[in-house]
Amino acid sequence: MTSTSVDYQKILNQINQEFIDQPRSGKVASYIPELAKVPSSKYGMHLYDLDGNNYCFGDSKERFSIQSISKVFTLSLAMKVMGDKLWNRVGVEPSGDPFNSLSQLENDSGIPRNPFINAGALVVADVLVSSFSNPKAALLTFLHEITGNQEIAFDPVVAASEQSKGYRNYAIVNYLKSFGNIENDVEDVLDFYFHQCSISMSCKELANAFIIFANNGTTIESEREFLTGRQVKRVNALMQTCGFYDEAGEFSFEVGLPGKSGVGGGIVAVHPDRFAVAVWSPPLNPKGNSALGMASLERLTTLTGFSIF
Ligand code: DON
Repeated sequence: MTSTSVDYQKILNQINQEFIDQPRSGKVASYIPELAKVPSSKYGMHLYDLDGNNYCFGDSKERFSIQSISKVFTLSLAMKVMGDKLWNRVGVEPSGDPFNSLSQLENDSGIPRNPFINAGALVVADVLVSSFSNPKAALLTFLHEITGNQEIAFDPVVAASEQSKGYRNYAIVNYLKSFGNIENDVEDVLDFYFHQCSISMSCKELANAFIIFANNGTTIESEREFLTGRQVKRVNALMQTCGFYDEAGEFSFEVGLPGKSGVGGGIVAVHPDRFAVAVWSPPLNPKGNSALGMASLERLTTLTGFSIF
């Protein structure tokens, strides 16, 4: 099946039909109090292809908390700033552990296994706090530039909500700092991290932002290069092997695309050379990934034949 012979809108409509009336399995994240308020029935999907075409259904234009999906953006920015030196402070291998685990840090001398577990994302946050006088503004500028959309913003209520219960992330940063792998004040790193996680974006905006990972680092509308081909290869390899924590192997089998999830119920995946796709359904499976989001992406790659495996 070639890209041109695929009717993406027909396939998305079919996925919506298959799942819209099914009872939702999983639980909406509640450890961040603000996330617990989001209705479990929300469901949307948006696919943006390399020809600039948009396909969608449901709540695809409604903004939600992107949470760990933000780790792909902060990693991209840190790679631009630090190049390969970044890998002295964070690894590139799957952890096989839950996203918020501390257990490997002791044996690994405070070097997190990868940038997508919380420990790794907190080291990346520290790099950005060191690199910019206003790291929050730098992150938003990066997002505005890759999307051409100036409206993408933090949600201060979600950031404060996570901060109020962020005991585990406080523990992780302090533990990393004890190994000398955090340069800045613990509060400054966590403030940046809670804000990056609070960014609100819709499936449409996420698919638009992720198209650079399907297009060798270059936007398709402005044709601006934000990452080199080699950097994109690194980000996609990390998404494939570490984007779903201890469910990365199953996601690779079921969906077969590099991607990244967040506890807000979003998942974004890319098919290098074809499309970026985002899906949102808040109830999470026991591994912390959107249950219906994963099922929807499984149907997408099965119906199109576009798993990369
Ligand atoms: O650090 C946390 O717990 C959240 N801000 C982000 C966690 C998350 O999204 C994990 N992803 N699946």
